[in-house]
Amino acid sequence: MYEQLKDINKRPGLFEFYTAERLWNDEHISGRMLEYHLDSANGLASRKENFINSSVKWIQARFRIGAGVRIADFGCGPGLYTTRLARLGAEVTGIDFSRRSIRYARESAVRENLKIKYLNQNYLEFETDEKFDLICLIFDDLCPLSPGQRKTMLTKFRSLLADNGCILLDVVSLKSYAERQECAVYERRLHDGFWAQGDYYGFMNTFKYENEKVVLDKYTIVEADKTWQVYNWLQYFSLESISREFENNGLRVAEYYSDVAGEPYSENAPEIALVAVKN
Ligand SMILES: C[S@@+](CC[C@H](N)C(=O)[O-])C[C@H]1O[C@@H](n2cnc3c(N)ncnc32)[C@H](O)[C@@H]1O
Repeated sequence: MYEQLKDINKRPGLFEFYTAERLWNDEHISGRMLEYHLDSANGLASRKENFINSSVKWIQARFRIGAGVRIADFGCGPGLYTTRLARLGAEVTGIDFSRRSIRYARESAVRENLKIKYLNQNYLEFETDEKFDLICLIFDDLCPLSPGQRKTMLTKFRSLLADNGCILLDVVSLKSYAERQECAVYERRLHDGFWAQGDYYGFMNTFKYENEKVVLDKYTIVEADKTWQVYNWLQYFSLESISREFENNGLRVAEYYSDVAGEPYSENAPEIALVAVKN
């Protein structure tokens, strides 16, 4: 018992484990995630519906979305952005490894008679000869990735950009980092049964990596017959550190905002949204 508790409370090496696949594809958890995505008032898996509507309106104006504009949405989930962008006439590709979300997205496209290309795969491995006018990675999805994985993504984005193409993405800011605190909690059926169908004990350990500005939420789920972990990493950025990372990968941050709905930049905002181009 002592050894098990020690293990549960152990701080792992930075980005030592990548468990995103489990978080988004586990049969039970992905069902709960889809409910969150589709609940217009829930901002946990996707942003709330009002925000997505104003975000798409801003994207439409800023990137002149219309017929013939080629868009790739990485981590498209159940298609809340892809569907709206396709309704505006854009040629949209959505990439996501959640089987359940892609199934839902495809069914929605059929229902609305929208021609959207959905690819059910890990976006770190996505390859194509196509080029895109706009590449999106929305809801801080660069942040759970290790520096090596982020390099893979930014290199990929650069090679997929059409001439004059843009990348639009958002990341969590240092303002948000300052508000995070280390903690250790445990609860029977932690988060109201979010983690498993049957009975379990759930531990959540939050660790801050001060030098690197990374936070880990480590979940240990103890079921009757098995114990398993999910590691949710989040890299927080300043405008300088994210701009440098783009520059190191042949990209230039051309514009920055407080969110992907075009809110003017503020150092006190919880997020930073960027428009980047090839350098
Ligand atoms: C926070 S959700 C955001 C969904 C969508 N962008 C939105 O704002 O509504 C993150 C999405 O990225 C997907 N995802 C995370 N890591 C991925 C990976 N390595 N490859 C493909 N999809 C991934 C998840 O399945 C999930 O649908």
